[in-house]
Order: sequence, then structure tokens, then C-alpha cells
Amino acid sequence: MLAVNANRNGVGNMEISVIGAGYVGLTTAACLAEIGHHVLCADCDMEKLNSLKAGQLPFYEPHLDDLVKRNVASGRLEFTIPADAIEKSEAIFICVGTPPLENGEADLSAIESVARLIMSTARGYRVVIEKSTVPVQTAKRLWKHLSIYNANGLSFDVVSNPEFLREGSAVEDFFHPDRVVIGAESPRAIALMKEIYAPVLRARSTCAVHAQCPSMAQPRLILTDTNSAELVKHASNSFLAMKISFINLIADACEAAGADIAKVAEGIGSDKRIGQAFLSPGIGFGGFCFPKDLQAFVRIGEKLGCDFSLLREVEKINVRRTEQFVAKIRKELWVLRGKTLAVWGLAFKPNTDDVRFAPALGIIRRLLSEGAKMRAYDPEAMHKAQRDLPEITYCDSSYQAAEGADAILVLTEWSEFRMINWTRLAELVSHRLIIDGRNLFSADEVLANGFQYVGVGRAGEPVPSSGEPKRLGELPDVSMRSHSLPLAADAVPAAT
Ligand code: UDX
Ligand code: UDX
Repeated sequence: MLAVNANRNGVGNMEISVIGAGYVGLTTAACLAEIGHHVLCADCDMEKLNSLKAGQLPFYEPHLDDLVKRNVASGRLEFTIPADAIEKSEAIFICVGTPPLENGEADLSAIESVARLIMSTARGYRVVIEKSTVPVQTAKRLWKHLSIYNANGLSFDVVSNPEFLREGSAVEDFFHPDRVVIGAESPRAIALMKEIYAPVLRARSTCAVHAQCPSMAQPRLILTDTNSAELVKHASNSFLAMKISFINLIADACEAAGADIAKVAEGIGSDKRIGQAFLSPGIGFGGFCFPKDLQAFVRIGEKLGCDFSLLREVEKINVRRTEQFVAKIRKELWVLRGKTLAVWGLAFKPNTDDVRFAPALGIIRRLLSEGAKMRAYDPEAMHKAQRDLPEITYCDSSYQAAEGADAILVLTEWSEFRMINWTRLAELVSHRLIIDGRNLFSADEVLANGFQYVGVGRAGEPVPSSGEPKRLGELPDVSMRSHSLPLAADAVPAAT
């Protein structure tokens, strides 16, 4: 039985290892240390490991830098190689990447190699905890695999403990989860998992994010079997993705029918059975989770013989957002070749530097292929975007990006863009046009400041000139039709 130390939270304290120091692994490791456990965080990428040992985080996540520094200083968080962490820790969180394979299935090779390492390194007892997103029945397969390679008579249990952290608010999500899901069969493993999460499961007064935690409902502990726990994760992400595709579909209807998606979403979301969350329309969902988890879940459905065509539609609607948004720009600017387009936001969402499957990158690639000149600014994600898109101009500010622009495209809703100085902006652009892919701005505000505005799911709005918005009847024919997404090129007759 490995050492258990009492800590300032007065609970037994575990020797825990976290394998995979990515967005989920590093956040989980630092937060587990913060609640008093001794955590060995490991990664097979030696360059990443050495920069972590040097105090350099591989990505931007609010509050995480301080949390890592504080817990390294206290000795509760250490960085080491996977074999060392596995040898020294009773509980092993697997947080390695499960990227999509060509066919959309989740690539589990990293999980398998960690399993091998556990069987060749560990002695005594281990609880092996899946935290990476994996298909249903993976824990059972993992258990079988570990048994086959169990050369050292290790006793072990396999647990599924899916994570629900959102990038950009991951630390807060760890300390204030809606639920902690534990899929396990053995009482010993369940007891250990309860001990690990005890500080999170009881009501908190302070945490690494809040000096005084807002009163929130105590997180639910959902104890179940491993298959059910694994399905909770894929189903949750697929449901949230479906909600986004649904509201994007309704946004199309609003544009075609002359309604306002903001009001419609408010009307829909005020129903407690639906809820307001995840009803923000835009250029589609991105990130390392939704697109790949949706694809993986569709494949799982096929394997299980279930008809998941609903989720295929969710995917199709999302993929269409890119083309629809580019068509909007084309409607406003006609020929895109040679036009200068300013991009505000590259990350797949605000408060992160992550550009994996970011809708912005897909849109920029489309516009480049039509010969447009792209100037971009993002508060955090430019260094990551440069790896994928070296051919565009990266700027130091939203103003610099707007210089000489024929249109400004809002692709990530960073709050700093809301503080824009419209007078200064008007002097920089060559055409006062905001095409807002995230409905970050209100049309009234933009129009009042002399810019033309195109949002998502908003009926046709008058175009300003010299600040004074024109009355509908005075509008030149072309622009009027620009606000409704081209369901069919000439579906909507021009306002007479
Ligand atoms: C991971 C999973 O990929 C995803 O399915 C789950 O939903 C959340 O956790 P993320 O943390 O964003 O996502 O992945 P990534 O940032 O790529 O980190 C994975 C880390 O595992 C990388 O640092 C990688 O170097 C490391 N790794 C990978 C190992 O340490 N060992 C391996 O064998 C493979
Ligand atoms: C998601 C899940 O929310 C989280 O629980 C899980 O652990 C990992 O995957 P994340 O990918 O970090 O988290 O971001 P999320 O906030 O869910 O946003 C995902 C994408 O959906 C982003 O591109 C975001 O811009 C988009 N989105 C979100 C919308 O377009 N509209 C919305 O209303 C909400």
C-alpha cells in the first residue's frame, strides 16, 4: 500500500499520476494537486516535459499558469516521465490524446501504449482511470488487455471517469462541475475515486478561480458501470453539438423569414426543459472535442447497429456553416479576389489559444482559395494558427488587422473586440463593413457608428451611410439581399 499523507484539507491524500499533459491532463493534474493530492504529471513528449519543468506551459488556459506554479512550489505537483509516474502512483489518470483516425473512429493507440507501460512497470495495486474520451466498452477492453499483459501479478481495477472541462474555463469547471461521473465495478476502486474527488464533491467556499465561490449546487456524484460512464461523455458532447446545429438551423430560418435569432433563442431557451445554454448561433462548433467526438460517436453507432443519422445531420449542418459564411461575404463584396479581409479571432472559442478544428481556419482557407488577402488578429492563438496557416498576415492588434480592409470578419467572440473605438476603426478600413460570425455586436451599435452590419440569424437591416441609417425603401438592391443566407440564389425577392 503506497504512502497516504494527511494534508491541509484534512482528507487522506493520494499518490496520483496523470499521463498526458495536454489541455485535459495538465489541468486535471494541477487541480488535483490544488485540492491536496500529490500528483506526478507525465508526458511522452520530452520537449513538452522539459518546458513544463522549466515552468513553461504548452498552452494558454486562464488561471492554470498560477495553479501550476503554486503547486510545483508546494511540492504537490511534479513533472516526470510516464514510467516513473506509473511506478510511484496508486491511481493513474490516462489523459492521452485520442485523435480521430481517417474513418473518424477514435485512435486508441496511445491508451494501449500506456496500458503496456503500466503492465511492465507497476507492482502491487493500481486503479487505472480513463479520462480521455473513448468509445463505449473501452474500459472492458482495457481490462482484458491489461490482464493479458499482466506479467508481474499486478492487481488492478479499471475506472471510467470522463471529463467535462471546457477550454477557456477548465479550471473553474474542475472546481465547480455539474457532476462527477465514476464508472467502476470494484468497491475498492469506487472508494479510492470518492476519496480523490471528496474535496470537489462537497460545497466549496474558495477555489483557484474565486476568492469567494458563488453559491452553486453541490456537484452530483454519478456512480455507474464503465459502459454507461463512457456513453455519458460521447452522448453529452453530441447533444451539445446538436443544440448548436439546431440553433444554427433556426438562424437560417430567421434570415429567410425576417426574424431575429436572438429573440427566438431567448424564447426557446426560456423553457427550463431547453435552457439558454448552447443556443448561440454562429459559424459552427470547433475545437478538439465536438467534431471528433461526434464523428467517433457516429462510428460507434454503426458498430452497435444503431441508426445515428440524426448525428450525421448535426455534422452536416456544422460543416455547411463555413460555406454559408463565405457566401455571405461574397454577397457583400461580390468578387473576393484581391479584396483585403480582416479576421478578428482565430481560436475555436474565446479564452483559449486552441485552433484545433477552429471554424475560423476553415473559413480563411476558403477565402484564400478565392484570392482574398487575409489579415488576422487573435489575442492568444496566433502562434498556434501560424503553424497551420503561415501564408496570411498576422497583426498585433484588431486595428492593425483592419488596415485597408474591405470587410472585418468576426470569427471568435473575444470580449476585447467589444471595446473597439469605432472612430479610429473607421479611419483605417477602406470599406465600413462588419460581417459578424458570432453575433458579438448588436446591429444597432454597429450601424450607429457608421458601419454596415451583417450578423447571423438577423433579418435584413438598413445599411448606414455617413452614420445615418437609410430607410428600407432607399436601399440599393444588392445589399438588401445580402443578409439572408442564399438558400437558393434568388429565393428572396429584393425589397421594392
Ligand atoms: C485529450 C483527449 O485527446 C480527448 O479525447 C479528451 O476528450 C480530452 O483529453 P487534450 O488534452 O486536448 O484531449 O489532448 P492533447 O492536448 O493532445 O494532450 C494529449 C497529451 O498526451 C499530449 O501532451 C501528448 O504528448 C500526450 N501523450 C500522447 C502521452 O503522454 N503519451 C502517449 O502515448 C500519447
Ligand atoms: C466541450 C464541452 O463543452 C466540454 O464539456 C467537454 O469536456 C469538451 O468539449 P470545449 O470544446 O472546450 O468543451 O468548448 P465549448 O465551450 O463546448 O465550445 C465548443 C464549440 O461550440 C466552440 O467552437 C464554440 O464556439 C461553439 N459554440 C458553443 C457555439 O457555436 N454556440 C454555443 O452556443 C456554444
